[in-house]
Amino acid sequence: MKKSVLLFLTFNLLIFNCIKADEGMWLPLFLKALNESDMQSKGLKLSAEDIYSINKSSLKDAIVHFGGGCTAEIISDQGLMLTNHHCGYGQIQAHSTVENDLLTNGFWAKTQAEELQNPGLTATIIVRMEDVTAKVLANVTNGMTDAEREKKVNEAISQITKEAIKDTHYGAYIRPFFYGNEYYMFVTETFKDVRLVGAPPSSIGKFGGDTDNWMWPRHTGDFSIFRIYANKDNAPADYSKDNVPYKPKYVIPISIKGVEENDFTMVYGFPGRTTEYLSSYGVNLIMNESDPARVKMREIRLAIWDEDMKASDKVRIQYSAKYASLANYWKKWDGEVKGLKKADAINKKKLFEQDFLLKVNTDDDAKGKYGNLFSDFEKRYSEISMWNKQRDYHAEAIMGIEAVNVSSFFKSVVDSLKNGKKAADLQLNIEKIKADVLTFYKDYNAYTDEKICAAMLKVYVDNIDLSQQASIFEEINKKYKGDFKKYAKYLYSKSIFVSPEKVMEALTNMDKNYKKIDNDPVYKLMYSCMTKYAKEIYPKYMELDAKITSLNRTYMKAMRELVTSKKYYPDANSTLRLAYGKVEGYYPKDGVHYNYYTTLDGVMEKENPAIDEFVVSPKLKELYFKKDYGQYANKKGELPVSFCASNHTTGGNSGSPVFNGEGQLIGTNFDRNWEGTMSDIFFNPDQVRNIVLDVRYTLFVIDKYAGAGYLLNEMKIIK
Ligand code: ARG
Ligand code: GLU
Repeated sequence: MKKSVLLFLTFNLLIFNCIKADEGMWLPLFLKALNESDMQSKGLKLSAEDIYSINKSSLKDAIVHFGGGCTAEIISDQGLMLTNHHCGYGQIQAHSTVENDLLTNGFWAKTQAEELQNPGLTATIIVRMEDVTAKVLANVTNGMTDAEREKKVNEAISQITKEAIKDTHYGAYIRPFFYGNEYYMFVTETFKDVRLVGAPPSSIGKFGGDTDNWMWPRHTGDFSIFRIYANKDNAPADYSKDNVPYKPKYVIPISIKGVEENDFTMVYGFPGRTTEYLSSYGVNLIMNESDPARVKMREIRLAIWDEDMKASDKVRIQYSAKYASLANYWKKWDGEVKGLKKADAINKKKLFEQDFLLKVNTDDDAKGKYGNLFSDFEKRYSEISMWNKQRDYHAEAIMGIEAVNVSSFFKSVVDSLKNGKKAADLQLNIEKIKADVLTFYKDYNAYTDEKICAAMLKVYVDNIDLSQQASIFEEINKKYKGDFKKYAKYLYSKSIFVSPEKVMEALTNMDKNYKKIDNDPVYKLMYSCMTKYAKEIYPKYMELDAKITSLNRTYMKAMRELVTSKKYYPDANSTLRLAYGKVEGYYPKDGVHYNYYTTLDGVMEKENPAIDEFVVSPKLKELYFKKDYGQYANKKGELPVSFCASNHTTGGNSGSPVFNGEGQLIGTNFDRNWEGTMSDIFFNPDQVRNIVLDVRYTLFVIDKYAGAGYLLNEMKIIK
């Protein structure tokens, strides 16, 4: 009996939890042990040592964490770097004015002297990584509470990192892996003089805009080019005229030989965050509670913005970047829910859990350690549910009101002034608020925000239990009886936060004006909601979240102990990872097949001069009509634009280099397909594809379209 049960469940565990082809974001440190032979059998011609090494130069030396949120790759011995247009968007926008609009027109520095400096932008390269689990956990014992454990871990982390970078100009960070079962340290070199070299116009770099975002087939030339500068010793330095182009340890060669279906590919970069090992209860919270609520709230805001953007050009320009960023995750979460449903993720997790529990119960020791795991998960998730909901509504509804949000910039300064501090002691903070406020109001329209305010307060009150609403709602509910338009009208006619002039004026004499701010009706609303959040919601949420993390740590350990048929990769956490797969199309639904690549013909098919997102520039059309593709055409004479492949990627992988089996650059990662957005939580190899800009289109745009072919002289191009 026992034997047949075991046989049966081993089978189920295998089916449901085997790492399927192409799933995984692997740690470079373990490629040799875990992946090398598999990768080589699939077409890799390099060794693990060629990809990551601390003894010789390797691919890793050319992989850059770009501004902390994206990835970039070094493609010349003079520090030239390729990333996405949407990763450099903030910088390109910052250099743009109405007279000299780099977003619309594109930008190409003709000489190094013309390259543009970007204060605050960083380029970080990994020097080495190291397993520091034993050192980090040295003072952690079994009986400790979550808080005690965290304290010991943090103490060890600060000690170890300090030691690691002593007497160097390096930085270091340590992150938990597998929910804190392991810890790894990354020693880094961060460059601070990173200049803009070139960017295509948005009509190429953002072609398809939000309509095509998260979608395949895709036709976006999503790239921009930067250069790292260093001091005379080739070390990081603040911006200076005397800095020189950085001499990298490794330069990535570029192949324009093209890609075919089933070719091996790998993506090297800094994926941000995934949660692949959640229990069914964790998936349920995201899929049935958090995602739908956040999607609904964003939908309302987007609709109001859209209406006003269509009615006024000024508002359209003011809100376009904000709209794109709000829409990005709105669309992602929506796709995620649909993908999880289609994959039947919760039921599959539940089946796995049932079998897992059967296996646990066959062994007394395992039963003692892991027997209560799922009932504990169930309990904790039912507890965190309401706090999670309040957190979502605070972040998306309350803080989604821009006036409320901007008034929160003042909170800590006003609090200090109320406690007797003088403005002179807070001058630095006040200057910072001034700068933030100026940037904020450049793109602010109070009329639009008043509508958002009425709609968001209604959503909040309709969804958050009376007993859980911030205290100010007692008064609001009594006085306005659900008429939030009336309340919003009152707020926006009385508050200083709808007027940049009044806010700046208040900032000139805070010793006197803080009382006025403290009495401002928008400020009061913010204050009540923030107090509720800081005193109650956040601490409660964090306390329960720590308990869930601790359960996840145990679950993770148990899975690795008991389900040994599987190779485990740690969830993404913004550290350097390698994913590999192959170039391939997919079947998005019954009877429909998507090809693995797109071409300039598709750009022309999508062209629509009436819609901003689908305008094609005359220059690009001319090249298209003349078929002037030079060496960038494929064998059929088409100009390839992008391709899709089955590499496991997520947010943060934007800008990541995509390599062929020889370690040559064939493209730049920039998105994922709609059907595959659930892969942060549940990977389905039939449906998950990363979307890659074909490097031939990148070079074509630089060379033929922009006439900046001189940049190609720096690159190693393999024909
Ligand atoms: N979806 C891509 C990524 O998460 C690209 C986003 C930028 N593009 C846009 N149209 N908003 O971040
Ligand atoms: N566009 C995403 C980024 O900025 C990558 C898409 C994804 O989430 O896979 O990193």
